[in-house]
Amino acid sequence: MEKLCLRFKDISVSEKMLYSLFLITIGIGYLFALTHMYYTHQMRDGKAGMSVDDVMIAYYGSQDQTRLGSAINGGPMESNLKSSVDRDTILRWLATDKTPRDFKSTIAPILDRDCVICHSPQINPSLPDLTNYEGVMDVASSKAAPLPGLVKVSHIHLFGIAFILLFVGRIFIYCEMSTSLKRVIIVIPFISMLIDTLSWFITRSYPSFAYVVIASGALMGLSMGVQILISLYQMWFEQGKLTLSASQQATLSQYQTCVIRYAKCFLMRGYANFCQYTPIIWRNIKIALIYIAQKIADIIKTFRR
Ligand code: HEC
Repeated sequence: MEKLCLRFKDISVSEKMLYSLFLITIGIGYLFALTHMYYTHQMRDGKAGMSVDDVMIAYYGSQDQTRLGSAINGGPMESNLKSSVDRDTILRWLATDKTPRDFKSTIAPILDRDCVICHSPQINPSLPDLTNYEGVMDVASSKAAPLPGLVKVSHIHLFGIAFILLFVGRIFIYCEMSTSLKRVIIVIPFISMLIDTLSWFITRSYPSFAYVVIASGALMGLSMGVQILISLYQMWFEQGKLTLSASQQATLSQYQTCVIRYAKCFLMRGYANFCQYTPIIWRNIKIALIYIAQKIADIIKTFRR
């Protein structure tokens, strides 16, 4: 007996309305997310518009721009400064050797007036602390994105987007199309999201990984957009069935077998290596544990005396 798989033609109009509104809302939300990304990153390299340099600076840091400098020089924090004279004062200080004395006399008053309402550990522990010299120096020397911040953004990002992809993908499964193509379109956004997040961390050390960040981020957005558009189209326009010709189907399944064969080979190799090295690693762990236990016993003995 054939398995029962529901398609859009099997679901009620109210369900279709619910799904359509959900997909449209997610689509608009994604456009806002892109706009937000543009506003926060575009000026990092001092030039208008998004570029690979902006992404490199966001994660790896920059040789000639500090995080403080790019935040106030065309960046998102510039509008918090009362006047552009203050911006130039701060930028000039950043170009010197940044002594605590100059900081106290010229920089601290500006930050106290315009920035510490948000940037103080009591008010907002997750933002750079601008209430003292050490805190300011953290963002005044060019450094990569701080690890704790990146870890925080990653877990929120993965949890949030996984749910979005789950629901968008669940609706997309109602589409009428070649099964293998559907499987590919379901898998791509998840894989690219994972690669994207992982490459943020790699870009901290290898700036050229910014290209992977951009490519995988774009792929995720595109594949999610494709799912949304195909779902909306098939929901309301019955004739829009997406089927592959026999030869396209054959090529696609060839690619799939190829990928699966490589994955199997890779996993088998990994398993073989695992079996080969585990006894050695385990023996070393045992030796280390015995050594530590002896040390602890020695320490306890010295206390007893
Ligand atoms: C209304 C609250 C608010 C005020 C006022 C404010 N900031 Fe921020 N600042 C934030 C928030 C929120 C973030 C983190 C958002 C982000 O990374 O986009 C941030 C991030 C930063 C960063 C880190 C940027 C990075 O590369 O991660 C710097 C540096 C900074 N602000 C400097 C300043 C300076 C200097 C001032 C004063 C002129 C200032 N901020 C005023 C809220 C504020």
